[in-house]
Amino acid sequence: MEIRVFAPASVANIGVGYDILGFALESPGDEVVARFSDGKGMSIGQITGTNRLPFSPEKNTATFSAQALLNFLGKSEIGIELDIHKKMPFGSGLGSSAASAVAGVFAVNTLLGNPLTKKELLHFAVLGEQLADGSYHADNVAPSLLGGIILIRENATLDITSLPIPDDLVAAVIYPEVEVLTRDSRNILKPDISLQKCIAQTGNLASFIAGLYRSDYELIGRSLTDHVIEPQRAVLIPHFYEIKNMALKMDALGCSISGAGPSIFALFKGETAAQKGGMAMKNIFEVHGIPATLYTGKINQGGAVVLS
Ligand code: HSE
Repeated sequence: MEIRVFAPASVANIGVGYDILGFALESPGDEVVARFSDGKGMSIGQITGTNRLPFSPEKNTATFSAQALLNFLGKSEIGIELDIHKKMPFGSGLGSSAASAVAGVFAVNTLLGNPLTKKELLHFAVLGEQLADGSYHADNVAPSLLGGIILIRENATLDITSLPIPDDLVAAVIYPEVEVLTRDSRNILKPDISLQKCIAQTGNLASFIAGLYRSDYELIGRSLTDHVIEPQRAVLIPHFYEIKNMALKMDALGCSISGAGPSIFALFKGETAAQKGGMAMKNIFEVHGIPATLYTGKINQGGAVVLS
């Protein structure tokens, strides 16, 4: 018996919620196949789509998370092999390590007959994310696993809330072929912010959430300004402000860095606006000689799913 699952990419931070907000995309994402094996514990059969992920089970986010799950379930004697099909770019700001960790735990839980709920799997997938970037945060993992737009009150306790999704909200995400490692992108951040910035950021965060509850696109747009993280990280992404200005000119509600970068996301009202705006943003990277990929779509509401 084999189980094949899909776990989507995600946009963490959404500009105003560093480490505490994220949404899932319809695509891209990772696929993982799980099957019982003769050995003991987690192992990796094959990895496709990249040659940069470790085969050693304790170093790979998918098997590391799944092994933690097996240990918790008291099933560490069981052997399970994963094939990892990486279908999204690595070091992209699209939650690549989170998608692998989610797919790993979700596939193994499904193979074992669903002993835990999706929500109960969250901790194990976050352990995989922590392996990748050294920090225990669920802003990519939670939306990838559960779908939707997720707010995290506190990462340590994984106290999370699913936020409402206005019907016409559509994301455009541009991935430029420039690598930014999350660990590096976290290390450049100053540890403190001023009271003035705290007030501006919390006002925007709270109003963004109110905008989602009220499907108030104008309030969402007015609130999508990051006073804290984007000004520090923009230097890591070539032509960031040129692209952001283009997004706003193309009627984006807001635009900022996706996760730790280098991908850039913009939110639009309606599919047509997102397609046109996304193309204009992508074009700027290409004019500057940087190949880029555009993903557009509504927020993924299902999260990780079993394919077969
Ligand atoms: N919140 C994280 C960051 C997301 O911005 O560093 C990337 O893992």
